Amino acid sequence: MKLDIFDSHAHYDDEAFNEDREQVIREIAEVGVIGVLNCGSSIEGARMSLKLAEEKAMFYAAVGIHPEYADSVNDGMLKEISNMARSNKVKAIGEIGLDYYYEENPSREVQREAFRKQMKLAEELSLPVVIHDRDAHEDTLNIIREFPAVRGVVHCFSGSTEFARECLKAGYYIGVTGVVTFKNAKKIVEVVKDVPLNRLLVETDCPYMAPVPFRGKRNRSDYIVHILEVMADIKGLTVEEMCKYTVQNVGDLLNL
Ligand code: NI
Repeated sequence: MKLDIFDSHAHYDDEAFNEDREQVIREIAEVGVIGVLNCGSSIEGARMSLKLAEEKAMFYAAVGIHPEYADSVNDGMLKEISNMARSNKVKAIGEIGLDYYYEENPSREVQREAFRKQMKLAEELSLPVVIHDRDAHEDTLNIIREFPAVRGVVHCFSGSTEFARECLKAGYYIGVTGVVTFKNAKKIVEVVKDVPLNRLLVETDCPYMAPVPFRGKRNRSDYIVHILEVMADIKGLTVEEMCKYTVQNVGDLLNL
């Protein structure tokens, strides 16, 4: 079965693709991937996301600094991100947000400051945002509410149904990864059940988060079919219908 898949969150700039990046990108296009939003994590990642987007028709870029690198954010970097956003292939600011999971990450205060600065940039540039939120649901919600004009996606969504509803109210989409295919997945299944069809996105977060039956392997955008199968099942739709909704949604969010 060949579906027209749009991967709303990928990292093909990651070194996991250094050996065969071009080949993988050719292969995913051949089997039906029609779009990829490549998300920068560091400034180097943002530059490479832009380069990929400028070289490849089906690639688009999100540029921004991940909370893991929040302590690197300075005015010069924000200026560079804002310059990159002049390209018509840059469709979002991201990935930005909060990650309270890892002890070694920059302090919460530093993360919040970098997050707010980049939310402000997105507001000024009228671009949507790609949000990374790990173990920081409450602070994430508080900060996105400070910027009511900004829309976006909470990627690799890991919160409860209640949290998802608050994100929807704030105008955000819910990004679903391979986690939904895992045997122990409960929360995200409930979230997919609850979230309206016009607010769900699919993503790999590749090279990470490969869905079953590729769990633990290097992920790639064509594996999204396995995520769509599970979501279609939850929603009582065909895989083709589910796929169509997600492509429509990412187009709406990114103004494609
Ligand atoms: Ni990511």
